[in-house]
Parts: sequence; C-alpha cells; structure tokens
Amino acid sequence: MEGSRPSWSKRSLAAQAMGAVDPVTKAIVPPIHVATTYIRDEDNTYSSGYTYGRPDNATVRQAEAVVAMLEDAGAGALMFSSGMAAATAVFQALDPGDHVVAPKVMYWALRKWLVTEGARWGLEVDLVETDDLAALGAAVRPDRTKLVWVETPSNPLWTITDIAAAAEIAHAAGARLAVDSTAASPMHTRPLALGADVVMHAATKILNGHSDVIAGVLAGARADAFWERIVAVRRSQGAILGPFEAYLTLRGLRTLPLRAAAQAKSAMALAERLAAHPHVARVLYPGLPQHPGHDVAARQMEGGFGYMLSIQVTGGEAAAIATAARVALWKRATSLGGVESLIEHRASVEGPDTPCPPDLLRLSTGIEDADDLYRDLDAALRAAHRS
Ligand SMILES: Cc1ncc(COP(=O)(O)O)c(C=O)c1O
Repeated sequence: MEGSRPSWSKRSLAAQAMGAVDPVTKAIVPPIHVATTYIRDEDNTYSSGYTYGRPDNATVRQAEAVVAMLEDAGAGALMFSSGMAAATAVFQALDPGDHVVAPKVMYWALRKWLVTEGARWGLEVDLVETDDLAALGAAVRPDRTKLVWVETPSNPLWTITDIAAAAEIAHAAGARLAVDSTAASPMHTRPLALGADVVMHAATKILNGHSDVIAGVLAGARADAFWERIVAVRRSQGAILGPFEAYLTLRGLRTLPLRAAAQAKSAMALAERLAAHPHVARVLYPGLPQHPGHDVAARQMEGGFGYMLSIQVTGGEAAAIATAARVALWKRATSLGGVESLIEHRASVEGPDTPCPPDLLRLSTGIEDADDLYRDLDAALRAAHRS
C-alpha cells in the first residue's frame, strides 16, 4: 500500500481497500476485471499469473486481500459464489469416511446439507451442543475426527462457543477447527487468533452489508495441504465469486468497521430495552449478562457483541407472527447484516425439526436510528397483543 505503515489500523486499511490503485490510470478505485481469459506469453508462460477466470480474478483478489487483512490470515482468503459454497468447500476438502462434528444450533441450510449431501459424500456427521465443551470433547474421536465446525454466535439462538477451547479439543484429536463467524464479523471476533484453522463468512451479510450480493469467503491460518485442497475445490467446481459481486463486496468492506460498530451498538441498546418489555419473554443476545454465553463472549468478542439478536414473544407463535406482521420500519424478510433492519419468524423458515422455538423472532439490526427501531417494535408488540 502506498505510504503504508505497519501500525495503521484495520479501519484505515479497510477504508482504502488496502490502497489498491489502478497501475495504468492511477485511479484510486481499481477497474472491475471482467476478462475470462488472458494472453499467454511468447515463451509459453503466463507472466501475469492469470490464466483463466475460473481459478482466479484480480477484482476477487482485491476483496480477498481486505478479508485476509481483517482476519490476520496467514494463508490469505478465498471468495466464493455464496456462503454455502464457501462452507461446503471446506467439507468437500475432506475424504469420504472422515468424521465431522458440527453444532446442533447452526445455520439451518448448512446443517441440512451436512446430514443429506455431506452424508452422501461419505462424511460421518455428529451434531452436538458445541457450547458444551464436555459434550464436544466426548463427540470428537481421536484420529477419526478430521474437522470440528462451530458457528459463534450461532443462528438463531446466538449461542456462544469458546473458540480457543474448541481449537484445543479439535487439535488434541488431530482434527482441524473451522468457525462460521458470520454473526460476529471480523470486527468482533478473530477466530484464527484464537486457534481456529479456517474462518468462514457468508459475505452476503455484514461484510458486503447492503443486501445486494450473494457471496462467501474463507480465510486460512496457514497455506497447508488442507488449504490447498480447498483452493482446488473452488477451482475445479467453479465456485469463485463473480467480478461484479467482488467489486460490490470490496466497496462494502471499506465501511465494514463503521457499520459493524454502529449495528452492534444499536443491537445492544435494543436488547437492553426489549429485556424489560412486558410482551417479551426472553431476549437472546450475547451482550446481555443473563445470556448463557455472556462470559465467554465477553472474553472472545471485542468492540461489541454483533448485530444479531432474537426475542421470544409472550403469547407464543401466533403473537410472534402477529408482531412481525405489524412492523413498519423493520423489514419483514430473511437474511441479515444489511444496513436495513430485518425481522423474521425463524421457525417458519426452518421447518418442523428445527431447534428454534416457535415464539422466536430473529432481528438483524441495521443502521437506522435505534430509538426508531425500538418504537416500531414496541408498537408492533403492543398491537399484536391487543388483537
Ligand atoms: C450464519 C450463516 N452461515 C452461512 C450462511 C449461508 O450464506 P449464503 O446465503 O450466502 O449461502 C448464512 C445465510 O443466511 C448464515 O446466516
């Protein structure tokens, strides 16, 4: 980076997207590289390092450089066409017959993939409460378990798993630890520094932050044989992110530190006010001292507890659905991490075998005025309980 100093903060580096400048025009916003193929040199080599668009792309590399910087990733980062593509690449880098431990409470579509497609791929999958370290330790089989997957905070109960302890358990058994850190973002947790081997984000969420890109990313602690397998899976399966999406993600990453701080601050304020609301039976947010994972979260998260919380509404499922129906400012939609706040009756999405309680509303806090967000939800809760 031009004029860079090693002491510059992550916020400064992200704001300038690592200072990438177009070498031809000196434009401070580099062009979007759309080419699918590149000129081969007369000596039959590719001196630029680029050969074809499926293995690699310069715009994608720029977005990857910012994520790698944010995560302090020794191996760098790899962007994928979705969060699911990123997550499944990790599992597909394993061999059929390998044993995998994953959480009971996790992003539901990945849990479903693991027990259906993952099982067909030959993986032996055990789902446990990964926040219970004794249960995690009992599930891991020395020399048989090859990967422990955790998600923290985990969707939609925002359960906290102790990453450093999970890394110790995994490594003692000869397994790797991968962490879905989507709800924490690199601004609140750095799993690689806590001992994880791979960190994954659905970049669709707060990394891009504007609800207009589907993307995923992996960051690796070291460029070992397992990481090279993941690189090969992305290349051979064609799971790389498109250049336009990479450009938008790069633009989102420039403001990530500001958005993450603002969204976490609002989420905390909402959690505290909702905990005292007469129509809210329970608030699930790791920033609250009464949350079962609060002590671990306070140790392993920094600068806030993230943008996601859930509430359990008094009056059960019907009252929860009626509340979601009555909001005006919150948007009734799935997904998370955008600048606009979203509300969702989660059990309706996850189906009958979900660990999600039926009275739960999942809240993704955006950048609107926190007082407006509270007033809107308060009015909806009160209207739903009058009807
Ligand atoms: C925690 C978490 N992980 C992974 C994913 C999958 O990401 P994508 O929808 O980009 O495939 C999601 C999507 O909601 C998620 O919330």
